[in-house]
Amino acid sequence: MLGPVILAAARSDKMRRLVSAAPVTRSVVDRFIAGETLGDTVPAVRSLADAGLEITLDVLGEDITDPAQALRNRDAYLELVEGLKPLGLGTRAEMSVKLSAFGQALPGGHELALKNVTPVVEAAAAIGTTVTLDMEDHTTVDSTLAILGELRERFPQTGAVLQSYLFRTEDDCRALAGEGSRVRLVKGAYKEPATVAFQDKAEVDKAYVRCLKILMEGEGYPMVGSHDPRMVAIAQDLAYRAGRKNEDYEFQMLYGIRDDEQRRLAAEGHRVRVYIAYGTDWYGYFMRRLAERPANLAFFARSLLTR
Ligand code: FDA
Repeated sequence: MLGPVILAAARSDKMRRLVSAAPVTRSVVDRFIAGETLGDTVPAVRSLADAGLEITLDVLGEDITDPAQALRNRDAYLELVEGLKPLGLGTRAEMSVKLSAFGQALPGGHELALKNVTPVVEAAAAIGTTVTLDMEDHTTVDSTLAILGELRERFPQTGAVLQSYLFRTEDDCRALAGEGSRVRLVKGAYKEPATVAFQDKAEVDKAYVRCLKILMEGEGYPMVGSHDPRMVAIAQDLAYRAGRKNEDYEFQMLYGIRDDEQRRLAAEGHRVRVYIAYGTDWYGYFMRRLAERPANLAFFARSLLTR
């Protein structure tokens, strides 16, 4: 019930100031965010890689308001590529980007985001890794998928995220189930209207399974982005029925969520990729984690009270 309220707060500047200034926020934020700088984050990358896990890195930043911020975000990703190079992890450490951080919501945003993200995708390819385009609210989907199409002409390994809560997503899954395509399927983390998205959790879950079936039966590479034990079990079953081996798909979970399960799946021989976010602009990401799960919110509230 609280989820939509928190998601609305995630877009409020007043709440951003309040939450960011709360003295305990930082310690709670640290549970979900690996660090403020690349230097803070590299040890987490190394330790996950040593434990047999794969990684996707997100430099926090979204909903920017001027083109100079887009350039700073582009440069932060280029710095990330430089930081990844000596680790030599190849596709075991890829990157996730939010196109809003590259200017997608600004005037002329589609072209601006494509122009700013292209050097990042090029730099990633030059060190043998790749980029996945995160998916934001429903108004961005057409633009993001069009940018994906343009990037894939030169960098076919570029991935995208699809959200099962959107009515359109089964069709998008069909369109992206072809050979060489990499799709991370998630349930969806934004507050969306009933005109475009399922509001009932059970409907979102059913849609997730339908979408996963399309991706598993297709010729692309499905990336199962969920902490839900039922979705993890169903994914294994659908993969088996579709004749996929463990290396023909992967699980993805967020840093700080179900760490034991991440390691258990990897120990069973599955490919598991951990999504690590870092940076100072953590507010929107943090609020979406609180909205997803009452237990996360309770954890935050408890730390406020026990201070
Ligand atoms: P959901 O929240 O539906 O919970 C189902 C069950 O999973 C719970 O009942 C519990 O059993 C288990 N569970 C969930 N969280 C848990 C926790 N913290 N601890 C223990 N058990 C837990 N969204 C988006 O809109 N655009 C994007 O680009 C991305 N990118 C992305 C990348 C990756 C790697 C992941 C994992 C997720 C995203 N998301 C996202 C977020 C996604 O849309 C969704 O909001 C969250 O993953 C929550 O949905 P779940 O399927 O994980 O479980």
